[in-house]
Amino acid sequence: ARLSVRDALRVQSPSGERVTVQGWVRSVRSQKEVLFLHVNDGSSLESLQIVADSNLESRELDFGCSVEIQGQLVKSPYKRQNVELKAEKIEVVGTCDPKDFPLKYKDRPPLEYLRQFPHLRCRTNALGSILRVRSEATAAVHSFFKDNGFVHIHTPIITSNDCEGAGELFQVEPSSKIKVPEENFFDVPAFLTVSGQLHLEVMSGAFTQVFTFGPTFRAENSQSRRHLSEFYMVEAEISFVESLQDIMQVMEGLFKSVTAMVLASCPEDVALCHKFIAPGQKDRLEHMLKNNFLTISYTEAVEILKQASQNFTFTPTWGVDLYTEHEKYLVEHCGNIPVFVINYPLSLKPFYMRDNEDGPQHTVAAVDLLVPGVGELFGGSLREERYHFLEQRLARSGLTKAYQWYLDLRRFGSVPHGGFGMGFERYLQCILGIDNIKDVIPFPRFTHSCIL
Ligand code: 4AD
Ligand code: MG
Repeated sequence: ARLSVRDALRVQSPSGERVTVQGWVRSVRSQKEVLFLHVNDGSSLESLQIVADSNLESRELDFGCSVEIQGQLVKSPYKRQNVELKAEKIEVVGTCDPKDFPLKYKDRPPLEYLRQFPHLRCRTNALGSILRVRSEATAAVHSFFKDNGFVHIHTPIITSNDCEGAGELFQVEPSSKIKVPEENFFDVPAFLTVSGQLHLEVMSGAFTQVFTFGPTFRAENSQSRRHLSEFYMVEAEISFVESLQDIMQVMEGLFKSVTAMVLASCPEDVALCHKFIAPGQKDRLEHMLKNNFLTISYTEAVEILKQASQNFTFTPTWGVDLYTEHEKYLVEHCGNIPVFVINYPLSLKPFYMRDNEDGPQHTVAAVDLLVPGVGELFGGSLREERYHFLEQRLARSGLTKAYQWYLDLRRFGSVPHGGFGMGFERYLQCILGIDNIKDVIPFPRFTHSCIL
């Protein structure tokens, strides 16, 4: 039978079962009469130990090559593992010259070095673990929403709206080889989506609780450690909410449930990151999980920052957006517990956020969740569900014509509703302690970089 390394390692009391295992060689060690190999196929962090008679050794058998091995599963005499494969036949499927291969045996190369090899770095322990965690976290996000009665919606990638109104759009056009009858393929300018929110709002007006989880795109000219041009966003939208707190509860629940599921489903992979990439992160994460998230208002945040102005290159005053350095300070100030910052100035936020109608310091019912190590992880709000308020906001932004359909939603059975978006890569950075966002996505896209 063909077995994955993971399944082979899970055999409790091996008794000579004949199996075939395939994978890539992680180490070759030959002693007088015995040859030891470690083979990994990505199904687990751990590699399978292969023990063979020296006469099965060939010149082609080297670090990095791909192999197919037939043999018998037996109990291992070594303490570290339960099972090993006693090889009867070793076939090198594809050779690998270690002289030219950029990954080296026994190395723990820094993530920054590995970034040069997006086509090979997935064969290291570090990227293997990070990407398996990413896969488990993806499944956990879907479970969380399914368990809580949300309907999954495929929101479009190509859209004509700029949800966030920030103008950070990638425009979509057919390649110049394609003959288009009119000026625009879609008649209107079309873009890669920056957020599925507006489409989710449509759907929450029918399914009550909806979510989407897909790629989003922003042409931010930024070389930061937490921005990508293409990133994945988890977005939810909920109808009949009573307050911003209803939304915040789902945000905290999502963070804590998904993390608990990931810790349960791939503990070894998480442990590898916590041990070798981000020492101390295990305790920091436990601290986040066992405490209730805190809440402060934007106004309180600005007061806290003013008191600490000596720490910043720029100190915000009321009405100004917070920078990464401010977000990081606020999280530390709150004892490294995630903190919701609510009620931002209306002037800073997009047209769709609900007016708090609160006098001279005019705010909207917006919420950002700031987390240790990363800063902003979630952005969300109550949406303006009142027709006349929304009509005025759209008019002020010159968007009335394009958003007639959006206004319609406020004419035909409008309800108080709200939602949020969580940057999925930032979430992975936060739980694993990974400093650079480029290391938690298989193929990062950012300014001047779209190889592969
Ligand atoms: O705060 P943002 O812009 O919120 C929205 O787009 C809302 N329409 C979401 C909603 O309410 N449905 O983005 C949400 C999150 C941010 O908090 C951040 O974690 C992440 O998306 N994000 C990015 N992640 C990586 N690279 C970028 N360039 C990002 N821009 C935002
Ligand atoms: Mg935001």
